Amino acid sequence: MRLDKFLTEMGLGTRSEVKGLIKKGRIRVNGEKPSGPEIKIDPDHDRVEADGRAVAYAAWEYYMLNKPAGWVCAARDSRDPVVVDLIADRKRKDLFPVGRLDKDTEGLLLITNDGRMAHSLLSPRKHVDKVYFARVRGVVTEKERELFQQGLDIRDEKLTLPAELKILSADPQTGLSQVEVTVREGRYHQIKRMFQAVGMEVAYLKRLSMGPVCLDSRLAPGQYRELTVEELEALRRLM
Ligand code: URA
Repeated sequence: MRLDKFLTEMGLGTRSEVKGLIKKGRIRVNGEKPSGPEIKIDPDHDRVEADGRAVAYAAWEYYMLNKPAGWVCAARDSRDPVVVDLIADRKRKDLFPVGRLDKDTEGLLLITNDGRMAHSLLSPRKHVDKVYFARVRGVVTEKERELFQQGLDIRDEKLTLPAELKILSADPQTGLSQVEVTVREGRYHQIKRMFQAVGMEVAYLKRLSMGPVCLDSRLAPGQYRELTVEELEALRRLM
């Protein structure tokens, strides 16, 4: 693992901050000054110190998965296969999905064992943007765009927060539309219930992004990869 990635993951700062620490000689690897941020270390065997104190290896893991339909967003389920089982290279047993997508929803799902990060991404106070692509049974028009913007009654205590609806296509002949929706909350079945509230039905749903992290278009459904240092850094800025 690269030294700068290790130090960022261990919470010593952003990638540029940890590079600064290395440059200033405040980091030692097995008692030696490292030659640069890119050197590889083995967190299980090498002793890394910052200002003379050992950096404990917490082994946080962070993955992005393109969730396939048919998998349940849970760490365990007695009936259905769970998304965590798709992370074949995982080292830790305590991984969990950050929030939930419905069983039939596809797309971006973050999987980690970092509870603090998950909490701050899901906190209702943070209003992290989530962008979805949807195929909808119904012809979406400017009227629906305005209703989404105003907030909808989806039979919760409160109206939904303003959501952006981008109409990609709307075909009166087939009665089908394709849209992108940006929401700042994460209510149960939120997108499906928002379309129900305007008399339409979601036929297909895929999450494209969550805050600063976008689904990697190279990942087919069921595939995953580790988050990059840049993605982690962007997520940490939300905390
Ligand atoms: N909204 C939904 O209706 N379903 C999801 O899986 C995510 C958002």
